Amino acid sequence: MVNYKDLGLVNTKDMFARAIKGGYAIPAFNFNNMEQLQAIIKAAVETKSPVILQVSKGARNYANQTLLRYMAEGAVAYAKELGCEHPEIVLHLDHGDSFELCKSCVDLGFSSVMIDGSHLPYEENVALTKKVVEYAHQFDVTVEGELGVLAGVEDEVSAEHHTYTNPEEVIDFATRTGCDSLAISIGTSHGAYKFKPEQCHVDPATGRLVPPPLAFDVLDAVMEKLPGFPIVLHGSSSVPQEYVDMINQYGGKLEAAIGIPEEELRKAAKSAVCKINIDSDSRLAMTAAVRRVFAEKPAEFDPRKYLGPARDEMEKMYKHKILNVLGSDGKLAQC
Ligand code: G3H
Ligand code: 13P
Ligand code: ZN
Repeated sequence: MVNYKDLGLVNTKDMFARAIKGGYAIPAFNFNNMEQLQAIIKAAVETKSPVILQVSKGARNYANQTLLRYMAEGAVAYAKELGCEHPEIVLHLDHGDSFELCKSCVDLGFSSVMIDGSHLPYEENVALTKKVVEYAHQFDVTVEGELGVLAGVEDEVSAEHHTYTNPEEVIDFATRTGCDSLAISIGTSHGAYKFKPEQCHVDPATGRLVPPPLAFDVLDAVMEKLPGFPIVLHGSSSVPQEYVDMINQYGGKLEAAIGIPEEELRKAAKSAVCKINIDSDSRLAMTAAVRRVFAEKPAEFDPRKYLGPARDEMEKMYKHKILNVLGSDGKLAQC
Protein backbone atom coordinates (compact mmCIF):
# COMPACT_ATOMS: atom_id res chain seq x y z
CA MET A 1 0.00 0.00 0.00
CA VAL A 2 1.46 3.36 -1.09
CA ASN A 3 -0.07 6.58 0.23
CA TYR A 4 -0.14 9.37 -2.32
CA LYS A 5 0.78 11.92 0.36
CA ASP A 6 4.17 10.23 0.69
CA LEU A 7 4.71 10.84 -3.02
CA GLY A 8 4.04 14.59 -2.70
CA LEU A 9 0.72 14.34 -4.55
CA VAL A 10 -2.56 15.99 -3.48
CA ASN A 11 -6.22 15.06 -3.86
CA THR A 12 -8.75 17.30 -5.63
CA LYS A 13 -10.68 18.62 -2.62
CA ASP A 14 -9.00 21.97 -1.96
CA MET A 15 -8.19 22.80 -5.54
CA PHE A 16 -11.81 22.23 -6.64
CA ALA A 17 -13.20 24.36 -3.82
CA ARG A 18 -10.87 27.21 -4.80
CA ALA A 19 -11.63 26.79 -8.52
CA ILE A 20 -15.39 27.05 -8.00
CA LYS A 21 -14.99 30.10 -5.81
CA GLY A 22 -12.53 31.71 -8.21
CA GLY A 23 -14.42 30.97 -11.43
CA TYR A 24 -11.76 28.90 -13.20
CA ALA A 25 -11.16 25.21 -13.97
CA ILE A 26 -8.29 22.83 -13.25
CA PRO A 27 -6.74 21.20 -16.33
CA ALA A 28 -6.97 17.41 -16.39
CA PHE A 29 -4.48 16.23 -18.99
CA ASN A 30 -4.11 12.55 -19.91
CA PHE A 31 -0.62 11.11 -20.12
CA ASN A 32 0.93 7.82 -21.11
CA ASN A 33 4.52 8.75 -22.01
CA MET A 34 7.47 10.77 -20.75
CA GLU A 35 7.27 13.61 -23.28
CA GLN A 36 3.62 14.32 -22.46
CA LEU A 37 4.39 14.30 -18.75
CA GLN A 38 7.36 16.65 -19.13
CA ALA A 39 5.28 19.05 -21.24
CA ILE A 40 2.38 19.02 -18.74
CA ILE A 41 4.64 19.67 -15.75
CA LYS A 42 6.61 22.41 -17.50
CA ALA A 43 3.40 24.15 -18.57
CA ALA A 44 1.90 23.88 -15.07
CA VAL A 45 5.07 25.13 -13.36
CA GLU A 46 5.62 28.04 -15.75
CA THR A 47 2.01 29.20 -15.35
CA LYS A 48 1.88 28.37 -11.60
CA SER A 49 -1.19 26.20 -12.15
CA PRO A 50 -2.47 23.20 -10.20
CA VAL A 51 -2.77 20.21 -12.53
CA ILE A 52 -4.42 16.79 -12.75
CA LEU A 53 -2.45 14.00 -14.41
CA GLN A 54 -4.95 11.48 -15.74
CA VAL A 55 -4.28 7.86 -16.50
CA SER A 56 -6.87 5.86 -18.44
CA LYS A 57 -7.17 2.10 -18.19
CA GLY A 58 -5.64 1.96 -21.68
CA ALA A 59 -2.72 4.15 -20.57
CA ARG A 60 -2.17 1.90 -17.57
CA ASN A 61 -1.97 -1.11 -19.83
CA TYR A 62 0.28 0.71 -22.30
CA ALA A 63 2.78 2.23 -19.91
CA ASN A 64 2.65 -0.15 -16.92
CA GLN A 65 0.94 0.98 -13.75
CA THR A 66 4.01 0.82 -11.53
CA LEU A 67 6.07 2.86 -13.94
CA LEU A 68 3.27 5.46 -14.19
CA ARG A 69 3.19 5.77 -10.42
CA TYR A 70 6.93 6.38 -10.29
CA MET A 71 6.59 8.85 -13.16
CA ALA A 72 4.03 10.82 -11.15
CA GLU A 73 6.35 10.79 -8.14
CA GLY A 74 9.12 11.94 -10.48
CA ALA A 75 6.82 14.69 -11.76
CA VAL A 76 6.62 16.19 -8.26
CA ALA A 77 10.42 16.19 -7.99
CA TYR A 78 10.72 17.62 -11.52
CA ALA A 79 8.30 20.46 -10.72
CA LYS A 80 10.39 21.33 -7.66
CA GLU A 81 13.57 21.21 -9.70
CA LEU A 82 11.95 23.63 -12.15
CA GLY A 83 11.50 26.09 -9.31
CA CYS A 84 8.01 25.33 -7.99
CA GLU A 85 8.39 24.75 -4.27
CA HIS A 86 4.77 23.70 -3.62
CA PRO A 87 3.38 22.02 -6.74
CA GLU A 88 -0.22 20.78 -6.63
CA ILE A 89 -0.27 17.61 -8.70
CA VAL A 90 -3.10 15.06 -8.65
CA LEU A 91 -2.64 11.53 -10.01
CA HIS A 92 -6.11 10.52 -11.19
CA LEU A 93 -7.57 7.34 -12.68
CA ASP A 94 -9.66 8.32 -15.72
CA HIS A 95 -12.77 6.23 -16.49
CA GLY A 96 -12.22 3.48 -13.95
CA ASP A 97 -14.70 0.75 -14.87
CA SER A 98 -14.62 -1.56 -11.84
CA PHE A 99 -14.16 -1.49 -8.07
CA GLU A 100 -11.04 -3.67 -8.44
CA LEU A 101 -9.36 -1.23 -10.84
CA CYS A 102 -10.14 1.76 -8.60
CA LYS A 103 -8.92 -0.11 -5.51
CA SER A 104 -5.69 -1.08 -7.19
CA CYS A 105 -5.05 2.58 -8.12
CA VAL A 106 -5.78 3.76 -4.57
CA ASP A 107 -3.42 1.06 -3.24
CA LEU A 108 -0.74 2.10 -5.72
CA GLY A 109 -0.62 5.80 -4.75
CA PHE A 110 -3.25 7.54 -6.90
CA SER A 111 -4.76 10.56 -5.11
CA SER A 112 -8.04 10.55 -7.05
CA VAL A 113 -10.08 8.01 -9.03
CA MET A 114 -13.02 8.15 -11.37
CA ILE A 115 -15.55 5.34 -11.27
CA ASP A 116 -17.51 5.56 -14.49
CA GLY A 117 -20.78 3.70 -14.02
CA SER A 118 -22.56 5.97 -16.49
CA HIS A 119 -23.39 3.09 -18.83
CA LEU A 120 -25.01 1.06 -16.05
CA PRO A 121 -28.62 1.22 -14.91
CA TYR A 122 -28.98 4.06 -12.37
CA GLU A 123 -29.16 1.92 -9.21
CA GLU A 124 -26.10 -0.11 -10.27
CA ASN A 125 -24.18 3.11 -10.92
CA VAL A 126 -25.11 4.34 -7.42
CA ALA A 127 -24.07 1.06 -5.76
CA LEU A 128 -20.73 0.81 -7.60
CA THR A 129 -19.83 4.46 -7.04
CA LYS A 130 -20.72 4.21 -3.34
CA LYS A 131 -18.52 1.13 -2.95
CA VAL A 132 -15.54 2.92 -4.51
CA VAL A 133 -16.15 6.04 -2.38
CA GLU A 134 -16.27 3.99 0.82
CA TYR A 135 -12.92 2.40 0.01
CA ALA A 136 -11.17 5.52 -1.35
CA HIS A 137 -12.25 7.85 1.44
CA GLN A 138 -10.49 5.70 4.04
CA PHE A 139 -7.27 6.95 2.45
CA ASP A 140 -8.43 10.51 1.70
CA VAL A 141 -8.53 9.72 -2.02
CA THR A 142 -11.20 11.74 -3.87
CA VAL A 143 -13.72 10.12 -6.20
CA GLU A 144 -15.37 11.36 -9.42
CA GLY A 145 -18.64 9.76 -10.50
CA GLU A 146 -20.51 10.17 -13.79
CA LEU A 147 -24.18 10.61 -14.64
CA GLY A 148 -25.33 10.81 -18.24
CA VAL A 149 -23.68 9.24 -21.28
CA LEU A 150 -21.29 10.97 -23.67
CA ALA A 151 -21.54 9.99 -27.32
CA GLY A 152 -18.43 8.38 -28.81
CA VAL A 153 -15.84 6.01 -27.43
CA GLU A 154 -14.33 6.10 -23.96
CA ASP A 155 -11.85 3.31 -23.31
CA GLU A 156 -13.67 0.23 -24.62
CA VAL A 157 -17.23 1.51 -24.19
CA SER A 158 -18.97 3.34 -27.03
CA ALA A 159 -22.34 5.06 -27.36
CA GLU A 160 -24.03 6.27 -30.55
CA HIS A 161 -25.84 9.22 -28.94
CA HIS A 162 -25.56 11.50 -25.92
CA THR A 163 -27.86 11.00 -23.00
CA TYR A 164 -27.74 14.32 -21.23
CA THR A 165 -27.47 14.20 -17.44
CA ASN A 166 -30.89 14.26 -15.81
CA PRO A 167 -30.75 17.13 -13.28
CA GLU A 168 -33.51 15.41 -11.29
CA GLU A 169 -31.07 12.60 -10.39
CA VAL A 170 -28.02 14.57 -9.26
CA ILE A 171 -28.97 15.27 -5.63
CA ASP A 172 -29.89 11.64 -5.03
CA PHE A 173 -26.70 10.44 -6.74
CA ALA A 174 -24.32 12.80 -4.93
CA THR A 175 -25.96 12.18 -1.54
CA ARG A 176 -26.19 8.42 -1.74
CA THR A 177 -22.76 7.82 -3.24
CA GLY A 178 -20.80 10.49 -1.33
CA CYS A 179 -18.74 11.21 -4.47
CA ASP A 180 -16.55 14.32 -4.43
CA SER A 181 -17.24 15.48 -7.99
CA LEU A 182 -19.61 14.63 -10.80
CA ALA A 183 -18.94 14.32 -14.53
CA ILE A 184 -21.99 15.34 -16.54
CA SER A 185 -23.09 15.02 -20.14
CA ILE A 186 -24.03 18.30 -21.86
CA GLY A 187 -22.98 17.62 -25.45
CA THR A 188 -19.21 17.08 -25.29
CA SER A 189 -17.78 13.75 -26.43
CA HIS A 190 -14.44 12.00 -26.62
CA GLY A 191 -12.03 12.07 -29.55
CA ALA A 192 -11.43 14.37 -32.52
CA TYR A 193 -14.81 13.87 -34.21
CA LYS A 194 -17.25 15.37 -31.77
CA PHE A 195 -19.80 16.58 -34.31
CA LYS A 196 -20.83 15.61 -37.81
CA PRO A 197 -20.40 18.40 -40.42
CA GLU A 198 -24.17 18.34 -41.04
CA GLN A 199 -24.73 19.35 -37.39
CA CYS A 200 -22.59 22.47 -37.89
CA HIS A 201 -22.93 25.78 -39.69
CA VAL A 202 -20.23 27.66 -41.58
CA ASP A 203 -18.80 30.80 -39.99
CA PRO A 204 -18.86 33.30 -42.88
CA ALA A 205 -15.82 35.16 -41.47
CA THR A 206 -13.47 32.16 -41.25
CA GLY A 207 -15.13 29.52 -43.42
CA ARG A 208 -14.79 27.11 -40.49
CA LEU A 209 -17.51 24.76 -39.27
CA VAL A 210 -19.15 25.88 -36.02
CA PRO A 211 -20.80 23.12 -33.96
CA PRO A 212 -24.11 23.44 -32.10
CA PRO A 213 -23.82 24.91 -28.58
CA LEU A 214 -23.43 22.79 -25.47
CA ALA A 215 -26.52 22.27 -23.32
CA PHE A 216 -25.78 25.00 -20.78
CA ASP A 217 -29.40 24.77 -19.62
CA VAL A 218 -28.63 21.27 -18.30
CA LEU A 219 -25.49 22.56 -16.54
CA ASP A 220 -27.50 25.43 -15.01
CA ALA A 221 -30.15 23.01 -13.76
CA VAL A 222 -27.49 20.75 -12.22
CA MET A 223 -25.87 23.73 -10.48
CA GLU A 224 -29.23 24.82 -9.14
CA LYS A 225 -29.80 21.38 -7.62
CA LEU A 226 -26.26 21.07 -6.23
CA PRO A 227 -24.99 24.57 -5.49
CA GLY A 228 -21.20 24.69 -5.20
CA PHE A 229 -20.73 20.99 -6.05
CA PRO A 230 -17.67 20.26 -8.26
CA ILE A 231 -18.71 19.46 -11.83
CA VAL A 232 -16.45 17.82 -14.43
CA LEU A 233 -16.50 18.08 -18.21
CA HIS A 234 -15.04 15.22 -20.22
CA GLY A 235 -14.44 15.33 -23.95
CA SER A 236 -13.31 18.94 -23.90
CA SER A 237 -10.64 19.07 -26.59
CA SER A 238 -11.08 21.91 -29.07
CA VAL A 239 -9.40 20.05 -31.96
CA PRO A 240 -7.38 23.09 -33.13
CA GLN A 241 -7.77 23.45 -36.88
CA GLU A 242 -4.08 24.35 -37.31
CA TYR A 243 -3.08 20.89 -36.03
CA VAL A 244 -5.63 19.16 -38.24
CA ASP A 245 -4.34 21.18 -41.23
CA MET A 246 -0.70 20.43 -40.36
CA ILE A 247 -1.38 16.70 -40.00
CA ASN A 248 -3.16 16.64 -43.37
CA GLN A 249 -0.47 18.80 -45.04
CA TYR A 250 2.25 16.35 -43.96
CA GLY A 251 0.59 13.17 -45.14
CA GLY A 252 -2.12 12.53 -42.55
CA LYS A 253 -5.77 12.00 -43.26
CA LEU A 254 -8.08 13.57 -40.71
CA GLU A 255 -11.34 14.52 -42.28
CA ALA A 256 -13.84 16.92 -40.72
CA ALA A 257 -12.38 16.70 -37.23
CA ILE A 258 -14.42 19.07 -35.03
CA GLY A 259 -14.02 19.95 -31.33
CA ILE A 260 -15.55 22.17 -28.65
CA PRO A 261 -15.09 25.90 -29.35
CA GLU A 262 -12.86 27.59 -26.79
CA GLU A 263 -15.49 30.26 -25.97
CA GLU A 264 -17.78 27.52 -24.67
CA LEU A 265 -15.06 26.08 -22.46
CA ARG A 266 -14.22 29.56 -21.13
CA LYS A 267 -17.87 29.98 -20.21
CA ALA A 268 -17.98 26.55 -18.52
CA ALA A 269 -14.76 27.22 -16.59
CA LYS A 270 -16.36 30.26 -14.94
CA SER A 271 -19.18 28.09 -13.54
CA ALA A 272 -19.12 25.13 -11.11
CA VAL A 273 -17.24 23.19 -13.79
CA CYS A 274 -13.89 22.90 -12.03
CA LYS A 275 -12.19 20.07 -13.99
CA ILE A 276 -11.88 20.05 -17.76
CA ASN A 277 -10.52 16.91 -19.46
CA ILE A 278 -8.24 17.23 -22.46
CA ASP A 279 -6.50 14.35 -24.22
CA SER A 280 -7.15 14.51 -27.96
CA ASP A 281 -5.56 17.97 -28.39
CA SER A 282 -2.32 16.60 -26.99
CA ARG A 283 -2.46 13.68 -29.44
CA LEU A 284 -3.04 16.12 -32.30
CA ALA A 285 -0.18 18.42 -31.24
CA MET A 286 2.19 15.49 -30.95
CA THR A 287 1.17 13.93 -34.25
CA ALA A 288 1.36 17.24 -36.14
CA ALA A 289 4.89 17.96 -34.88
CA VAL A 290 6.16 14.44 -35.56
CA ARG A 291 4.67 14.43 -39.06
CA ARG A 292 6.32 17.77 -39.85
CA VAL A 293 9.77 16.47 -38.86
CA PHE A 294 9.27 13.27 -40.84
CA ALA A 295 8.18 15.25 -43.91
CA GLU A 296 10.86 17.95 -43.71
CA LYS A 297 13.79 15.75 -42.55
CA PRO A 298 13.19 12.28 -43.97
CA ALA A 299 16.74 11.21 -43.10
CA GLU A 300 16.19 11.85 -39.39
CA PHE A 301 16.01 8.72 -37.23
CA ASP A 302 16.95 9.90 -33.74
CA PRO A 303 13.63 9.83 -31.78
CA ARG A 304 14.75 12.84 -29.73
CA LYS A 305 14.75 14.88 -32.93
CA TYR A 306 11.03 14.29 -33.48
CA LEU A 307 9.77 13.67 -29.94
CA GLY A 308 11.55 16.85 -28.77
CA PRO A 309 9.59 19.11 -31.16
CA ALA A 310 6.43 17.15 -30.26
CA ARG A 311 7.06 17.87 -26.59
CA ASP A 312 7.56 21.59 -27.33
CA GLU A 313 4.30 21.73 -29.30
CA MET A 314 2.37 20.01 -26.51
CA GLU A 315 3.82 22.37 -23.90
CA LYS A 316 2.72 25.36 -26.00
CA MET A 317 -0.78 23.89 -26.30
CA TYR A 318 -1.06 23.09 -22.54
CA LYS A 319 0.05 26.62 -21.63
CA HIS A 320 -2.50 28.08 -24.00
CA LYS A 321 -5.29 26.08 -22.33
CA ILE A 322 -4.21 27.14 -18.84
CA LEU A 323 -3.70 30.81 -19.70
CA ASN A 324 -6.40 31.49 -22.27
CA VAL A 325 -9.16 28.93 -21.71
CA LEU A 326 -9.29 27.52 -18.17
CA GLY A 327 -7.80 30.45 -16.24
CA SER A 328 -5.95 28.29 -13.68
CA ASP A 329 -2.69 30.25 -13.99
CA GLY A 330 -1.32 31.72 -10.76
CA LYS A 331 -3.76 29.65 -8.70
CA LEU A 332 -1.36 27.58 -6.57
CA ALA A 333 -2.16 27.95 -2.88
CA GLN A 334 1.54 28.57 -2.19
CA CYS A 335 4.14 29.44 -4.80
O1 G3H B 1 -11.59 9.05 -22.14
C1 G3H B 1 -10.80 8.92 -23.04
C2 G3H B 1 -9.38 9.36 -22.90
O2 G3H B 1 -9.06 10.17 -24.00
C3 G3H B 1 -8.46 8.18 -22.77
O3 G3H B 1 -8.31 7.54 -23.99
O4 G3H B 1 -8.62 5.13 -23.40
O5 G3H B 1 -7.45 5.80 -25.52
O6 G3H B 1 -6.34 6.12 -23.31
P1 G3H B 1 -7.64 6.04 -24.06
P1 13P C 1 -10.98 14.58 -25.41
O1 13P C 1 -11.03 13.38 -26.27
O2 13P C 1 -11.94 15.64 -25.88
O3 13P C 1 -9.60 15.14 -25.26
O4 13P C 1 -11.49 14.16 -23.95
C1 13P C 1 -10.62 13.52 -23.04
C2 13P C 1 -11.32 12.98 -21.85
O5 13P C 1 -12.47 13.28 -21.57
C3 13P C 1 -10.58 12.05 -21.01
O6 13P C 1 -11.37 11.49 -20.00
ZN1 ZN D 1 -13.38 11.17 -20.47
